[in-house]
Amino acid sequence: MRLALSTGGGDAPGLNAVIRAAVLAAVNRGWEVLGIKRGFAGLLGEDDVVPLTRESVRGIGHLGGTILRTSNRGNPLHYLRPGPDGSPVAVDRSDELIANARALGIDAVISIGGDGSLAIAQRLHEKGLRVIGVPKTIDNDVSGTITTFGFDTAVNTAIEAVDKLHTTAESHDRVFVMEVMGRDAGFIALHSGLAGSADVILIPEIPYDIDRVCEKVRARDRVGRSFSIVVVAEGAFPVGGRASTLGASLPGETIRLGGIAEALARQIEQRTGKEARSLVLGHLQRGGMPTGYDRLLSARFGAAAVRAVAEERWGHMVALQSPRIVTIPIADVLASPKRVDPQSDTVLTAREMGISFGD
Ligand code: F6P
Repeated sequence: MRLALSTGGGDAPGLNAVIRAAVLAAVNRGWEVLGIKRGFAGLLGEDDVVPLTRESVRGIGHLGGTILRTSNRGNPLHYLRPGPDGSPVAVDRSDELIANARALGIDAVISIGGDGSLAIAQRLHEKGLRVIGVPKTIDNDVSGTITTFGFDTAVNTAIEAVDKLHTTAESHDRVFVMEVMGRDAGFIALHSGLAGSADVILIPEIPYDIDRVCEKVRARDRVGRSFSIVVVAEGAFPVGGRASTLGASLPGETIRLGGIAEALARQIEQRTGKEARSLVLGHLQRGGMPTGYDRLLSARFGAAAVRAVAEERWGHMVALQSPRIVTIPIADVLASPKRVDPQSDTVLTAREMGISFGD
């Protein structure tokens, strides 16, 4: 068996722990392992394919990032190349990719990625490549698995930031609006806001009304709590409005979300007269050492993916359905992205504790 690993999309803490577990589990079966560099670029002649051995994965389990590097562009099914007039034209390079994999004697690919990479993996599987998926994203928006690795680390990073904001907010009687990642899902905001004792949590799944947000700030003032912490998901939007986006993005890149925290801070300041400041936590959430939870989940996912290869469960993704790790068809996973359920126990808990969702 000659197995190849690929990491695609935004990085997430735990990627190296998955790689390490998969390599060790494969090598211990007597298999050969290759690493495809930078998503699938290594199979398109745009980067390398390198051997992965016990030595290559020594001491990486606790490190953030990915030793294989990654990319949120270069989708082989929609690969952008300069057209005759210089503007980008999309071409499908999947046949070339599969031919290159065959030429290298690759028997199976473990594709570690979020919804975008899993969609690519599914298409390559339909075209005959033997693929197993591993769900990765700090956003936790992949369905079929209780959680993805990287999410716990991102939440803990956000909680640490909320804790730090609390002390300065209280010292200065200020409102702080902290923007966290998550794209169209509010899991990071919900979990870090609840665990970090935020006063307002704004998520895409519950459109907000700015008047309600300000009401909460004023209500706290009236009872002598003259500071407030708002945790807002980057994809949150007001009732009848749209998520805030940043102008710049490169060809082939998903549109960048951002700017909501500063916009909200200005609105809150104007309406309540209280000093309001914003903080964008940004890529700090994607970096650093994975938590113990994420390392363990990553190790289980990596080893389970190799088991799935041994069992020839092509087109499946490993998933956590506690207490078991199972495999489910990638096609089923892609059918419905996971979002925060506004009726969930976690949202209910926050409401019962007096946290406002701005609705
Ligand atoms: O999907 C992970 C994620 O970090 C999102 O939360 C965020 O919107 C996006 O990636 C940012 O991507 P990039 O690093 O390409 O700007």
